[in-house]
Amino acid sequence: MGTKGREIVGMDVNELIELLNKAFADEWLAYYQYWLGAKVVKGPMKEAVIAELIQHATDELRHADMLAGRIIQLGGTPITKPEDWYKMTNCGYDAPEDPFVKTILDQNIKGEQCAIMTYQKLVQLTATKDPVTYNIVLQILQDEVEHEEDLQSEMEDLEVILAGIAHK
Ligand SMILES: [Fe+2]
Ligand SMILES: [Fe+2]
Repeated sequence: MGTKGREIVGMDVNELIELLNKAFADEWLAYYQYWLGAKVVKGPMKEAVIAELIQHATDELRHADMLAGRIIQLGGTPITKPEDWYKMTNCGYDAPEDPFVKTILDQNIKGEQCAIMTYQKLVQLTATKDPVTYNIVLQILQDEVEHEEDLQSEMEDLEVILAGIAHK
């Protein structure tokens, strides 16, 4: 913990650490959801979707790393037990039990939309109170917005293909 670095935070630091840990839990669950989704996904456009899911998994793990670093700077401890991810998460975990590509995309779009709302709140909360955390959550928000668009544009292509199959 950096003492002066913690002192300049203009809000309740323990409350902030709690919120960052909740987002940290989300990132691990999102990482695993993408990682496993990329393994099991089936259907048209599979290859393109797999590439996207792997890229997103990598990004979510990087987000977990960014949050852990900030939590430690603030004198907190990142969640130590995976079982607590479920207790702390904002966005939950949607198991890729149905491997159909459209279902996987739908689940992950929902996850990204929840992530966008979570980081939007963190951005607003820290904007004038904690520029260091603000910078981190803003970068993550930018990635989540990009993720949603990536998945929705794959979904648009997929719907064209599925409509073509239905008309044959
Ligand atoms: Fe993320
Ligand atoms: Fe994401």
